[in-house]
Parts: sequence; C-alpha cells; structure tokens
Amino acid sequence: MKKIAILITLLAVVAFIGSAMAVPPGKTIEYAGGAMGKVTFNGKTHADAGNKCTDCHPKLFQMKKGSFKMSAADHTPDKYCGTCHNGEKAFAQKGNCANCHKK
Ligand code: HEC
Ligand code: HEC
Ligand code: HEC
Repeated sequence: MKKIAILITLLAVVAFIGSAMAVPPGKTIEYAGGAMGKVTFNGKTHADAGNKCTDCHPKLFQMKKGSFKMSAADHTPDKYCGTCHNGEKAFAQKGNCANCHKK
C-alpha cells in the first residue's frame, strides 16, 4: 500500500510539473478567433523572444487555458495580447491580423 501511495504521489508531482510548464516552453494554445480564423499562441516563440512568465502572469493572463475572452473591441494596446502587440514591443495588431489569425 505504501509503495502505491508513493507512486501516486510521484505521478501527481510529474503531472504537476508537466502542466506548470505546459504553455511557455513548448506547448501551444488555440483560440477559435471568430470569423477571422483561429489563433495559436506559442509558448516557445514567446519565451525565445525574451518574455518572462511575469510579463504575462498573472496580470494579463491567468495560468489557465481559456481564462480570458478577447473580443474584436479588445484589440487595443491596453488589453491582453495588445499590451505587447502594439507596434513597439512586438508587431501591432492593426494591419497584421493574419500574423495571429489563420483560416
Ligand atoms: C507572452 C505571454 C506569456 C508568457 C511570457 C508566459 N505565458 Fe503562460 N500563458 C499565456 C497565455 C496567453 C496563456 C493562456 C491563458 C488563457 O487561455 O486564458 C497561458 C497559459 C499558461 C498556463 C496554463 C496552460 C493550460 O493548458 O491551461 C500555464 C501553466 C502557464 N501559462 C505557465 C507559464 C510559465 C511557467 C511561464 C514562464 C516560463 C509562462 N507561462 C509564460 C501567456 C504567457
Ligand atoms: C509580454 C509581451 C507579449 C504578449 C502579452 C504577447 N506577445 Fe506575442 N510576441 C511578443 C514578442 C516580443 C514577439 C516576437 C517579436 C515579434 O514577432 O514582433 C511575439 C510574437 C508573436 C507571434 C509570432 C511568432 C509566432 O508564435 O508565430 C504571434 C503569432 C504572437 N506573438 C501572438 C500572440 C498572441 C495571440 C498573444 C495573446 C494571447 C500574444 N502574442 C501576447 C510579445 C508578446
Ligand atoms: C496578437 C495576435 C492577434 C492579432 C494580430 C489580431 N488578433 Fe484578433 N484575436 C486574437 C485573440 C487571442 C483572440 C481571442 C480568441 C478567443 O477568445 O477565442 C482574437 C479574437 C478575434 C475576433 C473574435 C472575437 C469574438 O468575439 O469571438 C475577431 C473578430 C478578431 N480577433 C479580429 C481581428 C482583426 C480584424 C485583426 C486585425 C486588425 C486581429 N483580430 C488581429 C489575437 C489577435
């Protein structure tokens, strides 16, 4: 019994580490993106571009897939992706729809 308990604990720890690293180094998250087509957020390209976890968490996004909803009107430099995608820190949203939205 004790061995099984230890094994379960180990599995839980491994699963937790796996999910804690889920997005940034390696994983992607997909959003429906309405009529413009789906949006894929890539954790690796964002880490490679020098963004730190705290640049995004927890102020802009929770560490939970689907915790935010970004309407067309939310594509402003003070919200969500636009905080960086403002034409300074990263490519602007305006005029670059297809950089994020793929049909
Ligand atoms: C450029 C912004 C950005 C950076 C940097 C970033 N994340 Fe995230 N992260 C996101 C977004 C966006 C989501 C999805 C949130 C949502 O859908 O509500 C997310 C989701 C997550 C999730 C939840 C994954 C899931 O499947 O539910 C975890 C865990 C996470 N991030 C951990 C990290 C860690 C650890 C780091 C640093 C190594 C990091 N993030 C860096 C933007 C970022
Ligand atoms: C903390 C700043 C930051 C936030 C927030 C952020 N990005 Fe980025 N993003 C960057 C930087 C820096 C780059 C690389 C420079 C560039 O491409 O302009 C980048 C590049 C990208 C790219 C091109 C590389 C690739 O992965 O295909 C896409 C697409 C992208 N971001 C989508 C998003 C989406 C979607 C969100 C919101 C869920 C988001 N970003 C939020 C900083 C950010
Ligand atoms: C930096 C990445 C990025 C760029 C650039 C971008 N978007 Fe988005 N867009 C998103 C994300 C993320 C969502 C949220 C998807 C979701 O919540 O399902 C979204 C959602 C949308 C939606 C759906 C809103 C809804 O209520 O379902 C529309 C419409 C939209 N974008 C239009 C545009 C247009 C038009 C442009 C170009 C002017 C643009 N987007 C550029 C990331 C981006």
